[in-house]
Amino acid sequence: IHIGVLFGGRSGEHEVSLMSARSVLSVLDPQKYEIIRVGITHQGEWFAGENALEALQNGDTSGLTRVTLLPQPGLNQLYAIEEQDGRATLRPYAPLDVVFPVLHGTFGEDGTLQGLLEMADLAYVGGGVLASSVGMDKALFKEILRSRGIRVVPSLTFTRRQIQTDIEAVLDQAETISHYPLFVKPVNLGSSVGVSKCRDRRQLRLGLENAARYDRRILVELGVNAREIEVSVLGNDQPIASIPGEILPAGDFYSYESKYIDERSELVIPAPLDEITMEEIRRIAVEVYRAMDGAGMARIDFLLDRETGIAYVNEANTIPGFTKISMYPKLWEASGLSYQELVDQLIELAFD
Ligand code: DAL
Ligand code: MG
Repeated sequence: IHIGVLFGGRSGEHEVSLMSARSVLSVLDPQKYEIIRVGITHQGEWFAGENALEALQNGDTSGLTRVTLLPQPGLNQLYAIEEQDGRATLRPYAPLDVVFPVLHGTFGEDGTLQGLLEMADLAYVGGGVLASSVGMDKALFKEILRSRGIRVVPSLTFTRRQIQTDIEAVLDQAETISHYPLFVKPVNLGSSVGVSKCRDRRQLRLGLENAARYDRRILVELGVNAREIEVSVLGNDQPIASIPGEILPAGDFYSYESKYIDERSELVIPAPLDEITMEEIRRIAVEVYRAMDGAGMARIDFLLDRETGIAYVNEANTIPGFTKISMYPKLWEASGLSYQELVDQLIELAFD
C-alpha cells in the first residue's frame, strides 16, 4: 500500500502537526506500507522526501522534491514539479493508494484538503468534506447540535466587520448572553489560538479585537465552571466511543500554552465519573459524530458543568492531536487498542 503522509501545513497548528506526524510515521510498518512523506510548508508548498519531517522542522527544504497532486480521478500519484527557465514540468514522483492527512486546522482539517482528495478520487484517512468543515466551524457546529437537541453552551457569533465598526453594540449584545466570564474564540481555529477568557467588558473588548485578527467570524460563549472531558470516536457507519478522559489544564483553561508549551497539563484516563455520566457522555459523543457525518475518527470535547452536572458538547476535532501521548490515541489505548493498531485501523477505514 502506497501511503502519502501529509504534515505541517498552512495553519497555526503547523508545529503540532509535525509532532503528531512523527508519532504516526514511527509506527507505519515498512513491510506493509510504502511511505511517501510530504511536508507542507507554512506557505503551502508541498515537498516530498525521506527526511521531509526533519527538513520541515529545520526549515530547510532544499534537499526535498517539490510535489503536487492533480485534482482529477485516475491519476493516482504525486507529481514532481520541475521549474526551469520559467517553465514547469510535471513528472510522476510516486504512486498513491491512500493519503493520511496528519494536519490540524485550516487547509488540512477543515474540508479544503479533503475536497482536493475527493476531486482526485483518492482514499484518505478521517472525515470527509462535510464533517471536516462542520468540525472546524465552531459556530455552525453548535447550530447543528442545537437543532438536534444536544446541549451546547450559550453563545453568539459576530463578524470582524461588526467588531471593527461598532464594538460597543457588539459588547452590549455579548453581555446579554448572561454573565462574565465569557470566552472569545475565532470560529475557525484550533488549539485555542486566539481564544481568551474575559472577566469584564474591558477584557471582552480586547479579546474580541485580538480574535478578529485571526478570523472573520468570532464566537462569544458563556464561560461555565466546568471539567474538560474528551471522548475518542472511531469508525465509519458504525462508530464506537472510547472511555472518556479528563484534562487538568495547567493554566486557567486549556489554552495553546497549556496544551503544548507548559507541560503541567495532565490527562486523567479514565475520567473519574460515575457510571451514568460516563455512559451518557459516550452516547452523546456518538450522536454528535453521526450528526456531523463523521468518518474515520474524531475527538469530541465536553464541558461538564461543576455546579449542575450538565454535559455540554464543546467541540469536535476531526484530526485530533495524534502524538503517542495525545488524548485521542491514549483513550483508545486505555480501551484496549494500541497506537499502532489504531493507525492501521484508520487506514483500513479509509478504504471502507
Ligand atoms: N487541534 C488539536 C490538535 C487538538 O484538538 O487535538
Ligand atoms: Mg480542540
